[in-house]
Amino acid sequence: MKKRFKFEKGLDDRMEHMNYIKVENELEGAEVLTEIIGDLLAQNALHVLGLATGGTMIPVYQQWVASSLDFSQVTTFNLDEYVGVTPENENSYAYFMDQHLFNHKPFKEIHLLDGMAQDLQVECARYEQLLTDKKLDLQLLGVGENGHIAFNEPGTSFHSTTHLAELTEDTVTVNSRFFEPGELVPNTALTMGIQSIMNAKKIVLLAFGERKQAAIAKLKEGKVDPDWPITKLLDHEDVTIITDL
Ligand code: GLP
Repeated sequence: MKKRFKFEKGLDDRMEHMNYIKVENELEGAEVLTEIIGDLLAQNALHVLGLATGGTMIPVYQQWVASSLDFSQVTTFNLDEYVGVTPENENSYAYFMDQHLFNHKPFKEIHLLDGMAQDLQVECARYEQLLTDKKLDLQLLGVGENGHIAFNEPGTSFHSTTHLAELTEDTVTVNSRFFEPGELVPNTALTMGIQSIMNAKKIVLLAFGERKQAAIAKLKEGKVDPDWPITKLLDHEDVTIITDL
């Protein structure tokens, strides 16, 4: 296991219980996470797994696919999905998950939010009920440049459950890098809420590169700030941060 250490002394006390794993780069970060997942599977402690999308997760899923990890008894939930984008559209998170993971590894059950649902409120309630019934053993997270987790943008209620979210202009701009030039980038999404994420037994967040510097710096300040959703993780009792920052 890679070197693990707590936040340095002098930072807010609430950071003390956070496991902060400093790595060289995202490849090493993906290795550490893969090792954590392997340990949990071996301990029979990973039945329900919350998955994330985004560039950060690509090396992680590559390593899982190349590994002998057995997910056949694991149920998954994805964090979020764009509204109005079909699963066949290669910008959908459903497509991303198929391409990077689900087409290559068998899982017990896969749960995704349906951004094409006729009634989005009903869809959110359906998903939240499933989460309540199944209970996440572990939720994986990336982070947005503005500190968003899943699609919980700055200012989102800490009590939020799965809901329809409006994306900030910044997020739409950042995410447009995955779309073809001129293609319309969705500005709404369905997302697990901050409370839905906080309900997970364990949380592991990955953040690499300069773009994530501000969000990680806010976390290190040790104060929960609604303008930086990532900081709510300070209130969770089992969080691991894997980062090169
Ligand atoms: C999107 C997703 C987040 C993800 C973020 C970071 O906004 N909704 O769940 O953490 O992107 O993406 P990337 O890993 O590509 O930087």
